[in-house]
Amino acid sequence: MDFEELIERGEDSEKWQGAKAKDELPLWVADMDFACSDAIIEALRQRVDERIYGYTNGMQEDYKQCVQAYYQRHFHWHFPIEDLFFSNGVVQGISLLLQLLSNEGDGVLIQTPVYHPFRRQIEANRRCCVTSSLIHHEDGRYEMNFADLEEKMSRSTVAGMILCSPHNPVGRVWKIEELQRVCAIAKRYHKWIISDEIHCDIIKEGYVHHPLETIAPEYKEEIITCVAPTKTFNIAGAECSHIILHKEEYKKRWKAFVIDQLCISAPNCFALSASKAAHANSDEWRAQMNQKIDENERYVRAFLQKELPEAVLSPREGTYLLWVDLSAYEKDPERLQQRMRKHARLHFNEGIMFGEEGACFERINIACPASILKEACHRLAVELKKERV
Ligand SMILES: Cc1ncc(COP(=O)(O)O)c(C=O)c1O
Repeated sequence: MDFEELIERGEDSEKWQGAKAKDELPLWVADMDFACSDAIIEALRQRVDERIYGYTNGMQEDYKQCVQAYYQRHFHWHFPIEDLFFSNGVVQGISLLLQLLSNEGDGVLIQTPVYHPFRRQIEANRRCCVTSSLIHHEDGRYEMNFADLEEKMSRSTVAGMILCSPHNPVGRVWKIEELQRVCAIAKRYHKWIISDEIHCDIIKEGYVHHPLETIAPEYKEEIITCVAPTKTFNIAGAECSHIILHKEEYKKRWKAFVIDQLCISAPNCFALSASKAAHANSDEWRAQMNQKIDENERYVRAFLQKELPEAVLSPREGTYLLWVDLSAYEKDPERLQQRMRKHARLHFNEGIMFGEEGACFERINIACPASILKEACHRLAVELKKERV
C-alpha cells in the first residue's frame, strides 16, 4: 500500500476539477487521494473483464451477509440482514428518511457546526431546521449542549434529529455516556434519531466508535443508522450506502416508497463488486489508511504549533478532516476565503458552510500524500504570516 503515490485523478473528479489549471491544492470535498485496496481494484477488474454489464440480481443474501459480517467484526454490532436497505448515498438516504419519518413543516434537529447537506436536505424537503450549537471550548474541543438539546427535542414541533457520529467537521468520536444521554433524551420525548455513521471506520488510535443502536438496544426501533463503504474505502463515485431500519412500520414505508415507488433497491454492478471487496477483503488497507491519517494529523499539528501558533486545531478523534480556527489571523470570513483561494491557492472547505459557528474556520481534508499536505501547510503559513490590509 503506497499512500504517497501522486495519482493523476480523472477529469470527473469533483475535488480536483480545475485545480491543476489554477495551481490550486484541493483539500476539500471528502474523498481521498489514495488508491483503493488491491481487493477492490481486482474485483472491479474482474467485473470489467466479464465484458457484459447487464441487469444484476440486486442485493442477494451473500452480499448482505458480507456487510453484516463487517459490522459484526469491527463493532460487535449485529443486525439482521432483513433490516439492511440500500440507498445510493447517505445524503440521499437521509433525504428519503426525512420524507418517511416526518411531515412538511416538522422540525428536525442538527448539532452545528455540522455537515452542511443536513440542513440542505431538511430544507429541500420543506422541513424546518432546528439547530443546537455544540459547545466550543477555547482549546478547540467540542461537546454537546445537552440542556439545549433536551429543550429543543422536547418541543412538539420537532420530529427527530440527525446525529453525526463521528462528527464532521469537528472530529469528535462520541463517548458512550454522550450517546446514552442523546438516546435518553430522544426516548423521553419519543423522537427518532437518524444516526449518520459514515465516518465510523476512520478513527484515531486510542478512540472507539460505538454504533448508536448498540448503546440503546431497547430504543433501536427509533434509531435509523446510515453507513457506507464509500468514505472508508474511497469509492464514493460508486454511490453505495446502507440504511439499517428495524421497526416494521418504517421498513414497510421504505419498501413502499423507496423500493416500489422510486425503484431504488440495489447497488449497480460495479458498486456491488467494489462494496463486497471493501467489506470482505480490505481490513488491512483500512488499518493502514488509519495509520496514515494519524501520521498526517501529527504533521499538521506540529507544523501549526511551530509556524502558526495561534491557529486552534480541534482535537481530531475521527474522520480524515481537520477543523481549524484561523480567526487569530483573519477576522473576516470572506477575506479569509479569498486569501485561501486567491493568494494561497488552497481549496479547503470554508468553516461557515457548516454553520455560522464556523466563521473563520477551515476544514482541511488530510487524506492525501504527505507531499501535498506539506505544500498546503507551507502555503497556509506563508499567507497567514502576511499582513493584509
Ligand atoms: C457526515 C457525512 N454524511 C454523508 C456524507 C456523504 O455521503 P454520500 O456520499 O454517501 O451521500 C458525508 C461526506 O462527506 C459526510 O461527511
